[in-house]
Amino acid sequence: MCGIVGYIGKREAWPILIKGLERLEYRGYDSAGIALMESGAFSVYKKKGRVAELSKFVKNNKLSGGVGIAHTRWATHGVPSDRNAHPHVSNSGDIVIVHNGIIENYLAIKKILINKGYKFKSDTDTEVLANLIEDIKKNTKVSVEEAVRLALAEVTGAYAILVLSKDEPGTMVVAKVGSPAVIGVGKNEFFIASDATPIVEHTKKVVYLEDGEMATIETKKDKLTLKIKTILSKKTKSPYIQTLKTKMEELEKGGFPHFMLKEIFEQPESLRNTIRGRIILEKGNVKFGGLEKFSKELQNLKHLVITGMGTARFTGLIGEYAFEELSGIPTKVEYGSEFTYRKSADAQHTGLIAISQSGETADTLNAIKKAKQDKMLTLGIVNVIGSSIARIVDAGIYNHVGPETAVASTKASTSQAVLLVMLAVYLGRMRGLSKKSGEEILKEIQKLPELVEEVLKNAKSIQKIAEKYKKSPNFFFLGRKYCAGAAMEGALKLKECSYIHAEGCNAAELKHGPISLIDKNFPTLVIAPADSMYEKNKTHIEEIKARGGKVIALVSSGNPEMKEIADDVIYIPKTLEMLTPILAFIPMQLLAYYISVERGNDVDKPRNLAKSVTVE
Ligand code: G6P
Repeated sequence: MCGIVGYIGKREAWPILIKGLERLEYRGYDSAGIALMESGAFSVYKKKGRVAELSKFVKNNKLSGGVGIAHTRWATHGVPSDRNAHPHVSNSGDIVIVHNGIIENYLAIKKILINKGYKFKSDTDTEVLANLIEDIKKNTKVSVEEAVRLALAEVTGAYAILVLSKDEPGTMVVAKVGSPAVIGVGKNEFFIASDATPIVEHTKKVVYLEDGEMATIETKKDKLTLKIKTILSKKTKSPYIQTLKTKMEELEKGGFPHFMLKEIFEQPESLRNTIRGRIILEKGNVKFGGLEKFSKELQNLKHLVITGMGTARFTGLIGEYAFEELSGIPTKVEYGSEFTYRKSADAQHTGLIAISQSGETADTLNAIKKAKQDKMLTLGIVNVIGSSIARIVDAGIYNHVGPETAVASTKASTSQAVLLVMLAVYLGRMRGLSKKSGEEILKEIQKLPELVEEVLKNAKSIQKIAEKYKKSPNFFFLGRKYCAGAAMEGALKLKECSYIHAEGCNAAELKHGPISLIDKNFPTLVIAPADSMYEKNKTHIEEIKARGGKVIALVSSGNPEMKEIADDVIYIPKTLEMLTPILAFIPMQLLAYYISVERGNDVDKPRNLAKSVTVE
């Protein structure tokens, strides 16, 4: 995720652009840059670090221009650095571009351009696009608008881009597929941004560009005009100008009252971003760029240890089952804090998989350091690019879900779980998992974003359940097999946001002690999908009911009997047993969210917690 801002008009552009970037810093902040156009020449400045540093530079150097584009980056291709920061300039200096998204086929295009003599200064997909536009423009002698259109017809992936050309100083081209772009319409001036927050203080009139559309803002006889067309069919349409009524604070949260709810609802998209470009169906396999160099070491592994803290460790419990089922590699899950102080057995054949959203959790970081001392292969599943864990591990996989702002992890957790199953397929395919089985699992993974959308449609009914149970002083969350870890995560979500005491455990363990706590005031959420554990889970529910306990059953759609047995029923779509916990996460996140809001808590920043715990 990155933020882009553009301005074209009569005013000095940089103050508008810098302020816009500050508003978009929630979308990423590992580097920032700006390009300003003045009398047909560009001044481009970009730097690793926060927008504040860029702002200082621009002020001190008195940069000037009435047309400009700017970017705040959250690295996807290439580490955070000055040279990978945006804007990117094409070889001849004609094209300048900022980009939010991922161009999936950039390597193939880069090869063609290198053969034509193009040189690249960065590792980014964006610089490839800048040069592709230049190449088309030069060879076909078309306008920058048409060159952008033709280039975009060749790329796959997601993008929101802003493009300027030195040859056409009064023109700015905007295009979008998958990533957001909003155009603010002022009095003979236009503002473009990833969301409306940089725009509202200048104008309330906005045009939301749709996927597959591009806009061109041109100067004709000193007047600026806006035209919109579809990228592939060139069909023009008149801009639909809306008037914004929302307040600034609401806008930052994308219209949601809290970041947590926004991030819960982002999950269809964040899962798409996690999966994108990584599934090779025809091979029944997965492609993880970061692991390629280590395929021999990965083939030699005889044991796996998954480590992490909090949510990350609970998603690891899902991975534990998947690794054993698909790859046959004995796997255990260990707190980072404990792994650090344990003796490693057979370290040279053991791989450590460290999971961390922030990439900064001290306990997990220490576990990696210890594994490295013991000469284990260390892998990371990390969201924040360039974070300490991402840098220290031998190889890694990024979640690509964008910044997670609410303290309670939501979109990172579902991404971690899906990556673990994908990694299990990858390791399994090295060890005899058939192509057909790999293909079947990956096809189901591809359906996940849509299934999550279906679950989110039930938010209202979960809100009603939350209302009913908001005063409960205690809660149990139970599940078996793949869903045992999910139950623990459900309990964590509830306790961290609502301050209700909640325990998550394997449902079978209930009758070995915890069941003595059950009475009519002690509700239990049981994850009981239509899987190999359904009959057992049904028995657990009957056991609770027989002792007067209240049960919320989380079951697969089409379950005819649970509404007769449980007090409340939440339905999730059917999927593979190993993917079910990912769908089960969503209603539990919503339940925790709504109960916490009902109780008047600060859900985004619960008391006593920190988003990343960098002390042991
Ligand atoms: C903190 C947060 C948890 C999170 C854990 C691990 O305790 O409050 O929500 O799961 O850290 O964080 P990480 O960034 O390593 O995933």
